Amino acid sequence: MRKKIMSVIIASAMIMSLSACGSGSSSAASTEKASEAVSEAAEEAAAGTENASAGGKLVMATNAEFPPYEYHENDEIVGIDAEIAAAIAKELGCEIEIEDIAFDSVIPEVTSGKADFGMAGMTVTDERKQSVNFSDTYAVAKQSVIVKEDSDITDIDGLKDRVIGVQTGTTGDLYATDDYGDGNIERYSKGMEAVQALSQGKIDAVIIDNEPAKVYVAENTGLKLLDSAYTEEEYAICVALDNTELLDKINAALAKLKDDGTIDGIVAKYIKSE
Ligand code: ARG
Repeated sequence: MRKKIMSVIIASAMIMSLSACGSGSSSAASTEKASEAVSEAAEEAAAGTENASAGGKLVMATNAEFPPYEYHENDEIVGIDAEIAAAIAKELGCEIEIEDIAFDSVIPEVTSGKADFGMAGMTVTDERKQSVNFSDTYAVAKQSVIVKEDSDITDIDGLKDRVIGVQTGTTGDLYATDDYGDGNIERYSKGMEAVQALSQGKIDAVIIDNEPAKVYVAENTGLKLLDSAYTEEEYAICVALDNTELLDKINAALAKLKDDGTIDGIVAKYIKSE
């Protein structure tokens, strides 16, 4: 009995922190359903089940293989997205837990409610908008082409009938598959693996976002970027379609962080202007 009362107390605390955090990913956040939610949450707490937004925490799904936006440094996930997310969390008064998963699992993690939002240098596309809502955009990007320094590929047209490496499920993957055919695409779970395959001469080019591309070219000898960019795109944070409450809060926080220079400051720390 005592345990049950404790669970209910924990559950109410969870609900209070949920609203403080503004996470609407659980029905527990709405007041009408509060009492029902208390028992549900109590059961969950008692059973020790994980809840995406338990404890005033927002769970962010990402793929931390994407410098300078998110990558591992020592034991930490750092980068532009990680820092912007931390600044947003501070605005919302909650903590962030980062979940590092495959890029093509980020949207499913958000739609299933296991994560509250996805932030992964993710490009806004009409197709993705069918499954998630995007925040206001916070960065512009391009898909760039990396080739070996001595490559005979000199522009985008040179990619025809060549073997192109991409990170699975990225816009680079989707567009290259459309343009050059599935048979010419090699998919890798990490961008870096595609770059290694290129260095080893297993593939002819890599199509990937421009900022990671610059990092990879700088870190690996014998590679260069083609001058012409492949596409222009914009990055945003994704949340579940029904979680407009969190979307609004993220947008309000983003607007403030853009206004007060926080975002520019974070970007400048990671991207040195040429
Ligand atoms: N901007 C591209 C996309 O949305 C690539 C993003 C890859 N991000 C990552 N964290 N691995 O498809």
